[in-house]
Amino acid sequence: MKEKEIAIPVRVYSYDELEAADRKLVDAAREATGRSYAPYSKFRVGAAIRLDNGQVVTGSNQENAAFPSGTCAERTACYYAGSKYPSVGFEALAVSAVTPAGGEIEEPVAPCGACRQALLEYEKLSGHPVRVLLVGKEAIYELPSVKSLLPLAFTEF
Ligand code: THU
Repeated sequence: MKEKEIAIPVRVYSYDELEAADRKLVDAAREATGRSYAPYSKFRVGAAIRLDNGQVVTGSNQENAAFPSGTCAERTACYYAGSKYPSVGFEALAVSAVTPAGGEIEEPVAPCGACRQALLEYEKLSGHPVRVLLVGKEAIYELPSVKSLLPLAFTEF
């Protein structure tokens, strides 16, 4: 038997340490939380994707009384980007969240497994790594790719 450790590379930034384009992306994700429809969980999530053409698209979680029918912010954003700009890759993604208590989440938000898998497919389609910024109140985690957010990912193509 051998043991193997799989590490996730994370850089921790403050908002002010980010480059201007990334600060803009974080701002867009934070703004998108305001367009969330989350009457059930009251957990409002915003996602912003900067495309390879510089365009920024956003999404927020949209819940539904038929619970499984709702969609996370990350998938709203990536499916919107995929349907509006089908042949444009993703450059970077930022995710932000506001908790039921009303303030921004303390620890950087952790996207769910389904969103990681969905985003991974768009990373593959992009043909290059997509940087990920997970936003918290004080700290912002930067991961170099979606793949690094989903080690041992299922890939079929
Ligand atoms: N949610 C997201 O939008 N993104 C995540 O990364 C985690 C969870 C949403 C789904 C649901 O509307 C609410 O947050 C509570 O789980």
